[in-house]
Amino acid sequence: QENRFQAIIAHAKEYGFVFPSSEIYDGLSAVYDYGPWGSELKKNIRDYWWKSMTQMHENIVGVDAAIFMHPTTWKASGHVDNFSDPMIDNKDSKKRYRVDHLIEAYADKLKEAGKEKESEDLLSQMDVLLSKDNFAGLKQLIDDNKISCSISGTSNWTDIRQFNLMFKTEFGAIASDNPEDSIIYLRPETAQGIFVNFLNVQKTARMKIPFGIAQTGKAFRNEIVARQFIFRMREFEQMEMQFFVRPGTESKWYKYWKQERLAWHLSLGTPADKYRFHDHVKLAHYAKEACDIEYEFPIGFKEVEGIHSRSDFDLSQHQLYSKKKQNYFDNDIDEKTGKPYGNYIPYVIETSIGLDRMFLLIMSQAYDEETITKEDGSQDRRVVMRIPVKLAPNKLAILPLVKRDGLPELARQLMDECKPHFRCFYEEKDAIGKRYRRQDAIGTPFCVTIDHQTKEDGTVTIRERDSMEQRRIKLSEVKQEISKFL
Ligand code: GAP
Repeated sequence: QENRFQAIIAHAKEYGFVFPSSEIYDGLSAVYDYGPWGSELKKNIRDYWWKSMTQMHENIVGVDAAIFMHPTTWKASGHVDNFSDPMIDNKDSKKRYRVDHLIEAYADKLKEAGKEKESEDLLSQMDVLLSKDNFAGLKQLIDDNKISCSISGTSNWTDIRQFNLMFKTEFGAIASDNPEDSIIYLRPETAQGIFVNFLNVQKTARMKIPFGIAQTGKAFRNEIVARQFIFRMREFEQMEMQFFVRPGTESKWYKYWKQERLAWHLSLGTPADKYRFHDHVKLAHYAKEACDIEYEFPIGFKEVEGIHSRSDFDLSQHQLYSKKKQNYFDNDIDEKTGKPYGNYIPYVIETSIGLDRMFLLIMSQAYDEETITKEDGSQDRRVVMRIPVKLAPNKLAILPLVKRDGLPELARQLMDECKPHFRCFYEEKDAIGKRYRRQDAIGTPFCVTIDHQTKEDGTVTIRERDSMEQRRIKLSEVKQEISKFL
């Protein structure tokens, strides 16, 4: 599986999906750039999420808040005081680890060695200790299991300390006498941009509870263990939705959004057994109830999305720090009292998914190495990205068989007809088989070949990526045929 993961990373780079950031300077740890096909795929995932939230739910609207926010936001949200992870340093290699990642990596090794029970026990012990912030107990767990550093191989550890994950920078050209005054944070989650706009949105879009606010955008975390490709990045993108509900109904809505979000994942055709829920034992500082949707990546089951019941924590905190009321007036009638529910601070259910992680999920699910037997009996190998049609960077490749006899002209006409409706790719170089392979590698679901017969009877060959099946259809029906899948 580790090999498969490495193959996906290599493929992502070779075929223009993901590059290490500033690669000519040897890259920047845990920062990545998306290439031509990566940026299309990422955009398509974002659009699919956005549509499912804001178009398919009449009671969800969007915002696009700034990355920079007033520094008090992060005091109120608890991130200045609590958004930290327990860290440990190896005294020999001077390498720093997040404690949970260090223990998880060791548990993974135990599992690989067939010691499933030991692995599970270790993780549940860790969960309990983490939930109590019991650092001495965690250190003991690391010592008892002789967990060693991957660099030095030694288990010579420091004590465990807290480390805040927010990036800081300076705001404004002139530094004041007190440097603290000009410190500003890069947002570690997009959610707070929604909370501080709660009343602006509720009033201007005339929303009635229950309703949601959705947002996509960059978030930044100074992750200590930056590994596993785009799984854990220092700059990444989130797709978050805060759903505001009447207090007392949060449990019902929490369950609703768990199912709704799982259904969204399954709507992309991923088999259900690749997913599972993981309920949190250690809750984030804002959460009352929380779970992860986990997917079986080639590196094991890992979190792709979080569903959190955040109570009125965030809005109450912002009311406290800003001294601006965050109340909502609910004029629906409470059956018990016969009176309107009246004024309250709404409760919140949050769904939060990492766009880059969803991208990695799609790549992991799509990547396939296939051995094929050719007509003459010889064997060939192809790498095919079975990306869902809706998300594929290009929907159709248009390929004239040869560069002469008027075939490129016919192909160009088809390009002009189709490209306003979906993304097409034109190519006339190389043998047709080679061109098909390149389209397989970037996940193009359909190829159309224009050949000499096209000139005679107006038909083309359409080839499907997954089955490699070819059939002839009318040139005039190509656009309609592809549109059926979008
Ligand atoms: N507003 C809630 C929140 O931010 P989270 O569980 O910390 O919750 C939500 O993050 C999602 O963001 C995660 O499920 C993951 O998909 C993504 N995410 C978090 N940290 C990430 C990182 N360093 N790199 C990539 N994605 C990350």
